[in-house]
Amino acid sequence: MKVGLVGYGKMGQAIEKILLDSGHTISKIVNIDNTEEIGEITPENTDVVIEFTAPESALDNIKSCLTNKVPVVSGSTGWLEHYSEVVDLCNQQGTGFFYASNYSLGVNIFFKLNEQLAKMMNGLGYDSSMLEIHHTQKLDAPSGTAITLAEGLIANNEAKSNWVNKPSDNPKELEIISERVDSVPGTHDVTYSSEVDTIKISHVAHSREGFAQGAVRAAEFMVGKVGVYSMDDLLNF
Ligand SMILES: NC(=O)c1ccc[n+]([C@@H]2O[C@H](COP(=O)([O-])OP(=O)(O)OC[C@H]3O[C@@H](n4cnc5c(N)ncnc54)[C@H](O)[C@@H]3O)[C@@H](O)[C@H]2O)c1
Repeated sequence: MKVGLVGYGKMGQAIEKILLDSGHTISKIVNIDNTEEIGEITPENTDVVIEFTAPESALDNIKSCLTNKVPVVSGSTGWLEHYSEVVDLCNQQGTGFFYASNYSLGVNIFFKLNEQLAKMMNGLGYDSSMLEIHHTQKLDAPSGTAITLAEGLIANNEAKSNWVNKPSDNPKELEIISERVDSVPGTHDVTYSSEVDTIKISHVAHSREGFAQGAVRAAEFMVGKVGVYSMDDLLNF
C-alpha cells in the first residue's frame, strides 16, 4: 500500500514506523513546512492518505485530498462541526473517507462499555461525570474521545441532556473536566456516584502506538473503498 502522510508530528511519526515495519511505502510526507505539496498527492501515486494534523488545518487537508479523489483516513480532532461537509464532498467525488476520534482498539471497546453502562444506570439515582487527561501540547478540549463518550452516555441515559466542559451543578448537564499533564497520551474516566457508592470505568493509554496501529489498519481497510466509514465498520462491532 502506498500511503501519503499528512501531518508529521507525534502521530505521523508513530504511524510511519508501523507502515514501514508492515512493508508499506510512504508516497509523500506533508507537514507544516511544505503544506502546498498536498496537491501533488493523486490516485496515481497514493492509495490512501493518513491525516493527523491539528483542529484548524484538518478540514482543508481532508477536502484537498478528497477533491483529488484520494481516500482519507483522518484522526485530527476539533473540526467535527464540519463533518457533514466532508461526507457530502466524499460522496460527490466518489471516493472514501474514514474518521475516528480515537483509533485504539481498547478505546473502541471502552466506547461500547460506556454505552452499555449508561443504559444500565438509567433511573438508579447516580450522577455521572467525566474526566479526560492529556499531554500539555494538546490543542483542543474536551478531547474528541471525551466528546464521543459524552454523546454515547447522553444517547443512552435519560438523566443527562447535554455536556459542558466545566464543573456544573445542573443535574441535566454532564460535566467533562479536562486536565493537561506533561506527556500523558490519553486517560478517560466515566464516573457514576450516589450517596452510597461510586462506579468508575477508566481507559488509560500507555503510548501512542495503539492509535497508530488502528490508523494503519483503517488505511489498509480503505484501499479501493468508496464511501464513509468508521471504527464500527473496521471492527465489526
Ligand atoms: N484519533 C486518534 O486516535 C488520535 C490520537 C492522537 C491524536 N489525535 C489527534 O491528531 C492530531 C495530531 O496529533 P499529534 O499528537 O500528532 O500532534 P502534533 O502537534 O505532534 O503533530 C501535528 C503535526 O501536523 C503538522 N501540521 C500542522 N498544520 C499542518 C498542515 N496544514 N498541513 C500539514 N501538516 C500540518 C504540524 O507541523 C505537526 O508536525 C491532533 O488533532 C490530535 O488531537 C487523534
